[in-house]
Amino acid sequence: MEKLYDAGKARAIGVSNFSTKKLSDLLVVARVRPAVNQVECHPGWQQTKLHNFYQSTGIHLSAYSPLGSPGTPWMNSNVLQEPVITSIANKLGKTPAQVALCWNIQMGHSVLPKSLNEERIKQNLDVYYWSIPDDLLAMFTEIKQLLLLYGNFE
Ligand SMILES: NC(=O)c1ccc[n+]([C@@H]2O[C@H](COP(=O)([O-])OP(=O)(O)OC[C@H]3O[C@@H](n4cnc5c(N)ncnc54)[C@H](OP(=O)(O)O)[C@@H]3O)[C@@H](O)[C@H]2O)c1
Repeated sequence: MEKLYDAGKARAIGVSNFSTKKLSDLLVVARVRPAVNQVECHPGWQQTKLHNFYQSTGIHLSAYSPLGSPGTPWMNSNVLQEPVITSIANKLGKTPAQVALCWNIQMGHSVLPKSLNEERIKQNLDVYYWSIPDDLLAMFTEIKQLLLLYGNFE
């Protein structure tokens, strides 16, 4: 990847599914620092350690499955039906998906939601011109984390 970067064929280097340990190990040997780490991140798996790592190193956190990948058998998190999310959505007149995406954006992360549905794609784009107020944002700490199920991935 560094050779591609040197040759001008890649403008930046990104990694995916790197824990803070893997990133720290990489930083010891990397000549070109990774610009971004793409990991699963949503209100049900907030990636606090990686978020703090991003803030201290500037290695951007990009969130995949930001809606918790609803309907997939391998996920145990029902982000869009999580009571904290649905109550905030009701208060703000937004959908749970919009609240989940907005939370990630307010954390400074980019988001990679996937939808095959035109209306939901439009809905998922409408997350930049409003924000979750601080008192409601604080409620996200109450959400049970998948980390407990996955182990110490971060
Ligand atoms: N780097 C990695 O290892 C990695 C791993 C997993 C995923 N990813 C990437 O992350 C992206 C998204 O991941 P994902 O598909 O797992 O998770 P996701 O975006 O959290 O969830 C997608 C699901 O949410 C539904 N959905 C989308 N918008 C919605 C809305 N507004 N309201 C209700 N439901 C909504 C979609 O259904 P409809 O289509 O019917 O709207 C689809 O079933 C993909 O591009 C994927 O390639 C990367």
